[in-house]
Amino acid sequence: MNIPWTQPDYWGNEIAYVTKAMESTWLSGGAFHNQFEDQFKEILKKKHALAVSNGTTAIHLAYLGLGIKPGDEIIIPGFCFQAAANIALQVGAKPIFAEVDKDTWCLDLKDVENKITSKTKAIIPVHTYGNCCEMDEILQLAKSKNIIVLEDCAESLFSTYKGHQSGTLGLVNTFSFQATKTITTGEGGLVVTDDDELAERMMLYRSHGMNRQKVIYWHEVPGHNFRLTNIQAALGVAQLEKKETIIKERKRVYHTYVELLSGVDGIKFQKINDTVDPLIWAIALKLDEKAFPQGRDAVMNQLKEVGIETRPGFYASSILPIYEKHSLLVCEDVSRNVISLPSFPTLTNQQIEFICQEFIKLKK
Ligand SMILES: Cc1ncc(COP(=O)(O)O)c(C=O)c1O
Repeated sequence: MNIPWTQPDYWGNEIAYVTKAMESTWLSGGAFHNQFEDQFKEILKKKHALAVSNGTTAIHLAYLGLGIKPGDEIIIPGFCFQAAANIALQVGAKPIFAEVDKDTWCLDLKDVENKITSKTKAIIPVHTYGNCCEMDEILQLAKSKNIIVLEDCAESLFSTYKGHQSGTLGLVNTFSFQATKTITTGEGGLVVTDDDELAERMMLYRSHGMNRQKVIYWHEVPGHNFRLTNIQAALGVAQLEKKETIIKERKRVYHTYVELLSGVDGIKFQKINDTVDPLIWAIALKLDEKAFPQGRDAVMNQLKEVGIETRPGFYASSILPIYEKHSLLVCEDVSRNVISLPSFPTLTNQQIEFICQEFIKLKK
C-alpha cells in the first residue's frame, strides 16, 4: 500500500467550472472570482473578503493594509508554519517569537504578554493544524495594549472557536487555498475584515495600487499584484459546493485516528480545548521519546518503508538561523517530537487502520 501524506481531492464540478472560466475568456478577474469572494463573505459573515494569490500574499497584503513598517514588532508563535514571520522580515518589521502551550501547540498567552513592548504592532495567532488559539484571552490582552490581532487561518478553515468560524475575530484574518488545504484553488488565499478603510487600502495594494474605477494606470500607492485568477476561483467555487462533504469526511478521518490511537501509551494527540470544534487539517501526534527511542525521524523512515508518507512537525523558529537568535524550549520539544500522519479527506478507514497498525508496531 502506498499512502501519500496528502492529495488534493475533486468532489464534483471542479473540471467543469475551470473549463467554463476558460471558455468565458475571463481569465484574470471574472464571475467565479466574484462568486468565490461573495461565498466567503457569507460563510464567514464578514463585510469584506479579498481573494489573493496565496496564503503568504494574504499576510503580506494585510501587513501593507495595516501599514506595518520597519521597526514594528510582530508577535508570532515559535512553532508554526512561518509565513507571517518571513513576511514581517520582507516588510522590514521584526518577528518576535512566543512560546506555544505544550499540549495545544497554540500561542502561550503568558509568553505573549512577556514579549509585548512599545514597538509591538500586531499579534498573530496561528491556528496550527486546525486547532484554534484561545482567542478571547488574546483579544482582551491585545485590546488592553492597543495592539492589532491578525489570525493566520491557513490551517483552520471551518474550525470554530466558541461557535465563531475561525478567522472572524481578529481585525484582519488570512487563509490559504494551497493544494493541501481544506478548500483548494491550487495556490490561493483570502483576507477578510469588517473594516471598510482597511479593505479599501488592501484592495489598492492587491492590484498595483490602482483603482480602475477611478483612473486606469494611476498608482495611488506602490502596490503589488496579489490577484487570484478567475480560473483558480472556479476551482474554489466547485470545492465550496461540496463544503459539507469535505467537512464530514475530514471529521471522519480525524475521529477514526482518535478511536484507534488515543489512549495508546507514548502517543499524544494535539490537545483541543472545549472552546474549539476543530476541522483538523493535519493529524499530528507527539511521540514520547521513551516509547520511541529511535526518534521521530527514524519513525518517519520506518513508516516510509511500508509505504506511508508522513511529515515532521515544523522547525521551531529558534532552530532556524534566518531569525535573530532566541530560545523557546517548548517549541523546540514539540518540533522535535511531532509527526503528522496522512490526513486528506478521501483516506479510507481501511488505510487509516493500516497506518495505525504499522505505527503502533514501531513502539518499544
Ligand atoms: C499557517 C500557515 N500560514 C501561511 C501559509 C502560507 O500559505 P501559502 O502556501 O498559500 O502561501 C501556510 C502554508 O501553506 C500555513 O500553514
